[in-house]
Amino acid sequence: MKPVKIGLLGLGTVGGGTVNVLQRNSEEIARRAGRPIEVVHAAVRSLGRERICDTQGILLTEDPFEVVRNPELDLVVELIGGCGLAKELVLEAISLGKHVVTANKALIAECGNEIFAAAEKKGVSIFYEAGVAGGIPIIKALREGLSANRIEWLAGIINGTGNFILSEMRDKGREFSDVLKEAQELGYAEADPTFDVEGIDAAHKLTILASIAYGIPLKFDKVYTEGISKITPQDVIYAGELGYVIKHLGIARRSQAGIEMRVHPTLVPASNMLGKVDGVMNAVMVNGDAVGNTFYYGPGAGAEPTASAVLADVIDLVRSLEGLAAHRVAHTGFAADQLGEDNLLSI
Ligand code: HSE
Repeated sequence: MKPVKIGLLGLGTVGGGTVNVLQRNSEEIARRAGRPIEVVHAAVRSLGRERICDTQGILLTEDPFEVVRNPELDLVVELIGGCGLAKELVLEAISLGKHVVTANKALIAECGNEIFAAAEKKGVSIFYEAGVAGGIPIIKALREGLSANRIEWLAGIINGTGNFILSEMRDKGREFSDVLKEAQELGYAEADPTFDVEGIDAAHKLTILASIAYGIPLKFDKVYTEGISKITPQDVIYAGELGYVIKHLGIARRSQAGIEMRVHPTLVPASNMLGKVDGVMNAVMVNGDAVGNTFYYGPGAGAEPTASAVLADVIDLVRSLEGLAAHRVAHTGFAADQLGEDNLLSI
C-alpha cells in the first residue's frame, strides 16, 4: 500500500524520538493507521550535527520552507517551537492545503485562534496532542472521551521540568539551579527555561485545556501566572512537616463569574493523588458532571513520550483521511490472519 509521506520541521529531541518510534513500530503503526507512514523530508538547524536517530532515507535540509513546499508531502509535523518561524511555516503549510501536527503549545495557545481560522478556510486539520502533558493523551480524553460532560474543573501538573525540580528539592535536598541544569541536559526544559520555571509553559498548556474543556476561544492572556522560582528549600521542608507537598498546578474552573484559569504553586495534601506525582511525570484531574473525577498520569516531557503523542496524532489524521471505521481503528488485529490466533495464550 502507498505510504503516507510526512515532513518534519525540527529533528532535535522530539523529532529524533519521532523517527525512532516510527522506525521501531512501523508495522504496528501501519496497521493502526491503515497505511504505512514514512518520514521523507526533515528540516534541521545544522546539517553537521549529531542526531539521536537514523536519518537514512530522509532528505535533510536547513531550509524549513523546502519541507513545507514539498508537493509530495501529505502532512507536516512542526517541532520547532515558539511563535515566530513556526507560525510562518504552519500558516504556509495550511495555505498549501497541508494538514499539520504540532507539539508547539506556545503557538496553539497564543496564535491558535488565527491558525484554526486559516485551517477552516482551507479544509485542513491541525493536531496538537503533544503540546500538553507530553505522552498523556489528555487532549483526546477531553475532546472525545469526556465530550458528553459539563466540565466543572480540571487541575494538573502540566510542566515536567518544574515538577522534577520540586521533587528533587524535596526528596534529595538539591539546589533549584542544579536540578534545572539536569532537566535541560535531559531534554525536558524549554529552549528558554524561564518558560518552565515562571509558569509560562504551564499557562500555555492550561489555555489549550480550558479552551477544549469549556468550548471557549484560546485566551492565554487571561491566565493568572505565577512560577516556582521563588520557592525555597525551607518552603518545601515546612510544607512536608504540615503533611503537604508544593505542586505547581494549572487550574481551570467554571464559576458564577465565568471560567477561571490560573497557574501557581499550591499546597497539596501529600495523600492526594496529585501530591504523589513526582519527577518529570505529569497528571491531570478532570471533574465532569456525568463521570465524576477522572485522573490521567504519565511522562510529561522527553523524546519518546512526546513522540508517542506526535505519532498518535499522525495516525489519527491518516485514519480520518482513509475514512477507517471506528471498530477497524480500535481492533488492530481485525483481520485474524494479521496477528494470528496462535498468538493468544490459553491460560
Ligand atoms: N518543558 C516542557 C516540560 C516540555 O517540562 O513540561 C514538555 O511540554
